[in-house]
Amino acid sequence: MKGLVLSGGHGTRLRPLTYSQQKQLIPVANKPILFYAIEDVIEAGVKEVYVVVGPNKEQVIETVNSRNWDADIDFIYQPEPEGLAHAVKISQDYIGDESFVMYLGDNILKSGIVDFANEFKKNESDTSILLSKVPNPQQFGVADLRKDGSVKRLIEKPKKPPSNYALVGIYFFKPIIFEAVNNIKPSWRNELEITDAIQWLIENGYKVKSNIVKDWWKDTGKPEDILEANRLVLDDIEQNVQGTEENSRLFGRIYVGEGTEIKNSTIKGPCIIGRNCSIKSSYIGPFTSIGDNCILTGTEIEDSVILGGSLISNTGRLVECLIGRNVKIVRASRIPKGTKFVVGDYSEIDL
Ligand code: TTP
Repeated sequence: MKGLVLSGGHGTRLRPLTYSQQKQLIPVANKPILFYAIEDVIEAGVKEVYVVVGPNKEQVIETVNSRNWDADIDFIYQPEPEGLAHAVKISQDYIGDESFVMYLGDNILKSGIVDFANEFKKNESDTSILLSKVPNPQQFGVADLRKDGSVKRLIEKPKKPPSNYALVGIYFFKPIIFEAVNNIKPSWRNELEITDAIQWLIENGYKVKSNIVKDWWKDTGKPEDILEANRLVLDDIEQNVQGTEENSRLFGRIYVGEGTEIKNSTIKGPCIIGRNCSIKSSYIGPFTSIGDNCILTGTEIEDSVILGGSLISNTGRLVECLIGRNVKIVRASRIPKGTKFVVGDYSEIDL
């Protein structure tokens, strides 16, 4: 089985971060979201992985190639995000006549895909989709199932959902899917939809099976999803303090990278602090991820994600923040007093 991991798209719902950075490279617990997807695919025994890259292809290629993977990784360029089925279509020459798993590079799954992949390899079905029970199916692609678990119909964001089972962004396909993607037309949003391609399989008598994901699954489309994925991943983080600590209190499971100095501070896990950071007279609370090379002084922060290279000083308490790279947030003792901003397009400030 081959692997197809999608890392294209514009990620408009994650602006302004996605102006300078491809969405799937945003870190969760200090690791790019995309790496969780590639790791899951390789863990399932895949030795040949193709990553679909889009607008920011150079940074995705560079980031993926910065790590040694236990598989061959190559890249397929999709100039415009013309739909998930379009990504499949342009991959046909690379996948050839083999089964493959397609994994959306902004999805995170707690327990990986090993069992699902093994089942698909043994199974007779032409496609297998993963489903997760959600409280708000109206906001997802939803499956209408038969009693034996096979799929009768897929519906995008239904007003009256036939079930609570949302489509997870992981699909197992036999090569017949290429015939399906070549037979469908673009949708109202002018994309080739993977749900339409799967529906084509069902209507043409092919067997589409479903499996239910029991542990958590997160699609990280919006800022609050990144924070939620960060909480879920940090919940399982292991204690490992490599930096130095002076006159500080550390509670709970905490990861601190090499070269980081913590002074006169309180850190409550689960949290992760990257390499070469300086944390002084600060409180870092649960579910916080701080990237490499950050400086925090006189700051209280919890339940937040800070990317690398940022300076945060004397700000008061920060909660549920998603802060990009090389950001500076400081409280200056300036006259006249007042709040001063230099903020990019589509930023959000909640005072
Ligand atoms: P989406 O979340 O539907 O799209 P997006 O990432 O462009 O985000 P937004 O809606 O905020 O603009 O895409 C799901 C995943 O699939 C995501 O990882 C991007 C990827 N993708 C592609 O690689 N090619 C495509 O043509 C599309 C539509 C998505």
